[in-house]
Amino acid sequence: MLIKKPVDIKPSEITPENVFRNRRQFMKESSRLMLGVAVAGSMPSIANAQSGASLKAPAPVGLVRTDPAYWLKNKFASIKSAPDSGPFYTGESLTPYRDVTRYNNFYEFGMDKSDPSSKSGEFKADPWSVEIAGEVAKPGTYHLEDILKPVDLEERIYRLRCVEAWSMVIPWIGFPLADLIKQFEPNSKAKFIEFETLIDADSMPGIRSIYSIVDWPYREGLRMDEAMNPLTMMAVGVYGDYLPAQNGAPMRLVVPWKYGFKSIKSIVKINFRETMPNTTWNDLQSNEYGFYANVNPEVHHPRWRQDTERRLPQTLFSRTRIETRLFNGYADQVASMYGDMDLSQYF
Ligand code: MTE
Repeated sequence: MLIKKPVDIKPSEITPENVFRNRRQFMKESSRLMLGVAVAGSMPSIANAQSGASLKAPAPVGLVRTDPAYWLKNKFASIKSAPDSGPFYTGESLTPYRDVTRYNNFYEFGMDKSDPSSKSGEFKADPWSVEIAGEVAKPGTYHLEDILKPVDLEERIYRLRCVEAWSMVIPWIGFPLADLIKQFEPNSKAKFIEFETLIDADSMPGIRSIYSIVDWPYREGLRMDEAMNPLTMMAVGVYGDYLPAQNGAPMRLVVPWKYGFKSIKSIVKINFRETMPNTTWNDLQSNEYGFYANVNPEVHHPRWRQDTERRLPQTLFSRTRIETRLFNGYADQVASMYGDMDLSQYF
């Protein structure tokens, strides 16, 4: 089997998507040829790092890429590849990189799906710090570099289901949120965790907009057991590359069994609380957006039925609608957390 080496690829062909696919293909072949775990383990996650080619290949027009610092590049040099089975993986077709990075919800940059990619050119993800507050032994403001130092990055392929009834399949790079939480030693009063996004009117046109409906900062929250669930992750990359601004650079939450609005982007504050926090969409319209927001085909949103979803990308010739599954197909991993709850009341 001929594997196209990164050096044989024309620069114009180097997109995170084909880098990602080449790497997975390479890793599969390597293990089949009995080159052993050692080779696969030492393989840089971003395949073109092998050739010494610049990781900053120009992004396709309209895609904003942040310019990560050296320490993040170092972290990306050793990423555990996604498994081929189990809950951190799905064999469903990946949503192309173009759609993952151009069809976005990130109201800080505007309300159209194309605004986050086209209007985030001024956004800077480095330097970045995160305030840790509330019921923890180690509150403070930490540089992202220090937060990421003890964690191991891994790749996971998750479904993302938006309450607007579209969905994607995305290969994220990140780490379990539990690994971040443990660093700050929450005490027994920490029952909930609250997240906030950056507010920077200079680089975020949606915040300056007179049409903005959100009371900034964008806020989200999880119950502590949800936050500690092994599925819950903090993402710092997508498709083998750094997170672009529109996907929540430099660090965003990913909670695959909940509607996408729970997966808050560009996090600057994490607050450990005894009481349930207010959240952006719940504050805006509590009868439409619950705190829990678990994907549920039986509990409909007033404007979007939830029993089916449009799997993106959609074209004139392919309008794939698939059935939505309870907890977005992750019931085995999460249903036990809601055993005694009426999900139509706590939606
Ligand atoms: N985070 C912030 N800060 N602002 C937002 O507007 N939108 C949410 C979520 N996180 C949003 C956010 C919604 S509604 C969805 S569906 C997901 O981000 C979309 O993530 P994606 O654009 O990476 O697909």
